Amino acid sequence: MGPIGIFDSGYGGLTILSDIRERLPQYDYLYLGDNARAPYGTRSFDVVYEFTLEAVKELFDRGCELVILACNTSSAKALRTIQQKDLPHIDPDKRVLGVLRPTTEIISQFTKSNHIGILATEGTVNSQSYVIEIGKFAPQCEVHQQACPLWVPLIENNEHHTHAGREFISKDVQALLEECDQIDTILLACTHYPVLKEYIESLVPDHVKVISQGKIVANGIADYLRRHPWMDAKCTKNGTVTFLTTESKEEFDRNASDYFGEKVESMHISLNH
Ligand code: DGL
Repeated sequence: MGPIGIFDSGYGGLTILSDIRERLPQYDYLYLGDNARAPYGTRSFDVVYEFTLEAVKELFDRGCELVILACNTSSAKALRTIQQKDLPHIDPDKRVLGVLRPTTEIISQFTKSNHIGILATEGTVNSQSYVIEIGKFAPQCEVHQQACPLWVPLIENNEHHTHAGREFISKDVQALLEECDQIDTILLACTHYPVLKEYIESLVPDHVKVISQGKIVANGIADYLRRHPWMDAKCTKNGTVTFLTTESKEEFDRNASDYFGEKVESMHISLNH
């Protein structure tokens, strides 16, 4: 038995953990942010896969039976290979889940025009995962994507509030809106982006909904645990949260509360050993 592992390249997954914890406060959680190697969004398929697998193994070694990739880039580029190729060898009774599936299952409920805009990292956009997955669940919807390669570096470096940072963000949002004037739903398909939600809302017309994934993913996990009582029984329930970072602990603790909404005390670990 062990805590639920939550992984992200850096701080972004904390926005997801915050919503998961609100929805499922009884469980124990072990968060791992690979801040030292973030961002993942501009890295190749092979590198994202390799880094994500290292993180998953670390969380397994620390007792997790269930790991959530709270990172769209990892979910898009590494999840399937880990599930199909690695898990059967590592431990067929453990599970790794991502954020893409729960989101793509229900995103069409938000649109009336059937035109959905996706803001994401370059890696997620190039993988075409959102286009393919939304196509399966809602073939009537047209998906318009905009890669935002500078956003995660801006956020990780706490520069997203600066004038220059806001200019870059606004430029990408305008580019998405210009792609199709029928977009009425914009999905923030990167777990770092919820910290920009209010600003993005101020940039789009009133009728355009800006959707972040946290609550959607939290409901998806609650549903998964309800449908898989054998896994639920393996997840410990003492209401604790533990944080690990591959960067400096001080730096992580200083920034993490902006994403998690509470004071955070982390521990430094190394992944590439
Ligand atoms: N939070 C990750 C995501 O959802 C950010 C990826 C990155 O590190 O570039 O895609």
